[in-house]
Amino acid sequence: MNTRFEPSGRLRGEITAPPDKSVSHRAALLAAMHDQPVRVTNYLRAADTTSTLDALRALGALVEVHEEGDVVVRGSGLREAREADGSIDVGNAGTLMRLLPGWLASQAGRTYTLDGDASIRRRPVDRVVEPLERMGARIEATDGRYPPFTVHGVRLRSIAYDLPVASAQVKSCVLLAGLAADGVTTVTEPAPSRDHTERLLRAAAVSVHRDGRQVTVTNCDELELESVRVPGDASSAAFMVAAAAIVPRSKIVVRDVGVNWTRTGFLRIAARMGAVVVGELEEPVGDDIPTAEPVSELDVRTAPLAGTVVEADEVPLAIDELPLVALLGCFAEGETVVRGAAELRVKESDRIAGVVEGLRGLGASIEATDDGFAVTGTGGLRGGTLDARGDHRLAMAGAIAGLASREGVEVVGMEAAAVSYPRFTEDLSRLVAR
Ligand code: S3P
Repeated sequence: MNTRFEPSGRLRGEITAPPDKSVSHRAALLAAMHDQPVRVTNYLRAADTTSTLDALRALGALVEVHEEGDVVVRGSGLREAREADGSIDVGNAGTLMRLLPGWLASQAGRTYTLDGDASIRRRPVDRVVEPLERMGARIEATDGRYPPFTVHGVRLRSIAYDLPVASAQVKSCVLLAGLAADGVTTVTEPAPSRDHTERLLRAAAVSVHRDGRQVTVTNCDELELESVRVPGDASSAAFMVAAAAIVPRSKIVVRDVGVNWTRTGFLRIAARMGAVVVGELEEPVGDDIPTAEPVSELDVRTAPLAGTVVEADEVPLAIDELPLVALLGCFAEGETVVRGAAELRVKESDRIAGVVEGLRGLGASIEATDDGFAVTGTGGLRGGTLDARGDHRLAMAGAIAGLASREGVEVVGMEAAAVSYPRFTEDLSRLVAR
């Protein structure tokens, strides 16, 4: 589907951020590991998180989806995931594909196959296969590293695992596997990444601790969890923040934004570039793992932007928003550089290539590097056509570019937005229509 986004006048008004995708996946998964009903309020109703509910049903969970956005999951228990009939379809959901095997690997004597769409079949799973095999599971992946792949569950051994890349998905996979392993499992991260799994595990009365870069989980017999509220998604809100930052004379409010410090890297980068974003952002929490996910309203206004440098340690805290850093860079004075972000090459698409070629096609002065990109601000974008490459975040970045451009942008494949933010175009037009 091709959708045109014309240059807009200033953006005004208020919207509510859609529910968080990362927290929705995790809340549903933990709920399925419990043998009592768990109510997840404000669950994201989008393609990715629907894949999670369908996967959990295939594993024996009873899932009710209520009109008002709540989901009630009645699971089978930590060690009782049923074998699915046929393969489990993860659709486009990388988080589901990397977290679920952590649980399945601990289901002794049972076997599961996971598969997904064409984009998922290009995304590596060796990063979770390696630690799970060290814990004793046997996994057969296509060409040793891609879906479809088959997990043979066993009684897992606990391990101490040093993550080779700062990945919240891999960290979470190992922590979930640790729940039903034979002792204490430790994961060490090279840099902080989103900590929703740790927070939810604590909320579920699991013994989980942080000591600097190390997270430790102790095995248990069951979880204790009655309900979870999903905060608004900081990554989805970031598109609206970026729009208000670059469309002249904008002033908007985004409500219910999850402001967990591990998710607000983009807001700190945007503020450093000069964007005016006012909200109650969480401070770094140190070694204490909170059980709550803080939320805030964000007030955003347009302001002159200056280029910035994003280094490797900041990358995991803004990983999904880096396309927007490139977009802001086009409107900023001077150079904007992102380094240490080679992970972008294995997202829903090769996001370095997608962003660089996409924005260049709209008139940007941008170069790819092996592990990021460099943009020279030229005061704006001409416009043109941007191919989303089936990637929801590229589609939405293209739409925002259109509003701020001189001639408008035609996004090829706008339907991809439904993966994480089905109401995106509607929300955006509410800010535009005056
Ligand atoms: C996610 C972690 C990140 C992020 C993805 C969601 C998560 O991936 O890019 O969109 O929910 O844990 P990596 O762990 O591969 O960095």
